[in-house]
Amino acid sequence: MKAILLVICASTITLADIPDYKFPDGFLFGAATASYQVEGGWNEDGKGENIWDRGLHDHADWVADNSNGDIACDSYHKYKEDVQLLKDLGVNYYRFSISWSRVLPTGKADQVNQAGIDYYNNLIDELLANGIEPYVTMFHWDLPQPLQDEGGWPERKLADYFVDYARVLFKNFGDRVKYWMTVNEITQICEGGYSGGTFAPFITNPGVGGYECTHTVLLAHGRTYRLYESDYKAEQNGQVGIAIDSSWHEPNNPDNESDQQASEVDMQMNYGWFVNPIVYGNYPDVMIERVKANSLAEGFPQSRLPEFTADEQEMMKGTFDFLGLNHYTSDKVYFADEGAGDHPSHWADTGVIGVIDPSWPGSASDWLKEVPWGINRLLVWIKNHYDNPPVVITENGFSDYGQLDDYDRADYYKRYLYEILKAINEEECNVIGYTAWSLMDNFEWMAGYTQRFGMHYVDFDDPDRPRTRKLSSYVYNNIITTRHVDWDYYPDWPPTQENKN
Ligand code: NOJ
Repeated sequence: MKAILLVICASTITLADIPDYKFPDGFLFGAATASYQVEGGWNEDGKGENIWDRGLHDHADWVADNSNGDIACDSYHKYKEDVQLLKDLGVNYYRFSISWSRVLPTGKADQVNQAGIDYYNNLIDELLANGIEPYVTMFHWDLPQPLQDEGGWPERKLADYFVDYARVLFKNFGDRVKYWMTVNEITQICEGGYSGGTFAPFITNPGVGGYECTHTVLLAHGRTYRLYESDYKAEQNGQVGIAIDSSWHEPNNPDNESDQQASEVDMQMNYGWFVNPIVYGNYPDVMIERVKANSLAEGFPQSRLPEFTADEQEMMKGTFDFLGLNHYTSDKVYFADEGAGDHPSHWADTGVIGVIDPSWPGSASDWLKEVPWGINRLLVWIKNHYDNPPVVITENGFSDYGQLDDYDRADYYKRYLYEILKAINEEECNVIGYTAWSLMDNFEWMAGYTQRFGMHYVDFDDPDRPRTRKLSSYVYNNIITTRHVDWDYYPDWPPTQENKN
C-alpha cells in the first residue's frame, strides 16, 4: 500500500484521477506452473530421464542451493491438493505443462507410458470437475535425454519427434483440452540450452546453436499447428498457440532517434525472431540482414541464421490462434559502439546494450525489476507490429524469499494488471487472458528454491511439501472476482479462521 501511494505521489496523480477500468466479459484468469518445476516423481511409474534430470544429477553444484526437481512440490502425488488451491484462488484455468518423458519415456511415440497418460488424465479430469479449464504447454524445457543423445533441438529430426509427441497428446487429451501451447520460451530453450549453456542441456555454441535450435523449434511449432488444423480441429474445436517471452526494451533516451532504433532492433531480434515467422512466415528482415553481415565478416561462408524454404514460409505463416506472452520486466537500450558481445553470438548480432534503471524496484532475482508501464508499451508494440493479435499473458510474476505477507508480489500484480487494463481500454489491445506465475513456490531452475514466485508457500524441508496461502493469493482472488484492481484491498493479515478461504 505504502509503495503504491509513493508511485502515485511521484507522478502527482491521485487515486481519484485513475480511471477504474474493468476487465471485459470473457477475459480469463489463470495460474501457471511447469512439469519439471513442480511434479517430482522424476523416475516413477515408467517416466524416462530428461535433460534436467541428467544435467542436475551430474552437476548438483551448478544450482544455487545444490537442489533439483526430483521431488519439487511433489505434484505428481499432490495434484488434487493443487486443484483445490486453484479453486480457492478462483481462476478460470490452470496452465501446466506435460512432461514429454513421462508420456514417452524414450521421447519417441512407439512407446507410450500408460501411467503417464493416466496421471495427466487424472489431473485434467480433476480440474474439469472443479470448473477449471486445462491450459496445456506441451514442452516446458524438459527434453527426453535420448533425444538429446541424438543431438537435441539443433537437429531438424527433433521436429518430427515433436509432432509425433503432439499427436499422442491430441489423441489422448484433446477431447477435454481446448487450449494448447506448443512450447514455452524459445529464448531459454535455445539461447540458454545451446548457445550460452546456462540451461539444460548446457551446451555452449554461441551465435550458432541458438539459431539452429530455434529453427527446429519453430518448424515443430508450425507443423504441430497444421497437424491440429488438419486432423483434430474440426472434432476437438480447440486452439493452439505458443508462449514466447519478452521484456520491453525502452529506448535509453526516448527522444534520441538512435536509441529508438536500438529499441526496435532489440525487439525484432529477441521477440520478432520467434513471432515474425509464426505471423508472417519468416524471420524479421533486420535480423536476416544483421546476422548475415556479421557471419560474413566473421569468415562464415554464409549466414549463421538458417533459412526457411518458400514452402516452409507458407506453412509457418499464421500458425497461431493466440500469442502467449511471458513478461516480467524491462530494460533501457542503446546501440553498442564496439559491439554488444563476443563474436559470434546473438548478442553481437543484436548490437544493443540493455541497462537497468537503478530507480526500478528489485525482487529476489537480479534480472527482475518492477516496471509496470513496460507491459503496456510491449502490448502496444505487439498490436502495432502483428495486426492486433489475440494475446494471452501466459506468465507474469514476482520473486521474493518466501514470506507469507508478500505485499510486494500483491502490489506487482495490481500494478501490472492495471497497465494491462489500460492497454485494453485506452489502446484497444486485444489481450484476452492473464496467467500469474506461479500457483506455488517451485524449482526456479538454476536458482533452485532460493527464489520464490508462488502465491502459495511450499515447505521444501517437509517431506509432505505442505502448501500455505500467501497474502497475494487473496489479492489476486479479489481482482478475479471484482474484475478490476482495487488499490485499497488487502486481506486482514494474518488471516483469521473465517476469512481464510
Ligand atoms: C519463465 C519460465 O517459463 C518459468 O519456468 C520460470 O520459472 C519463470 N519465468 C520465472 O523465472
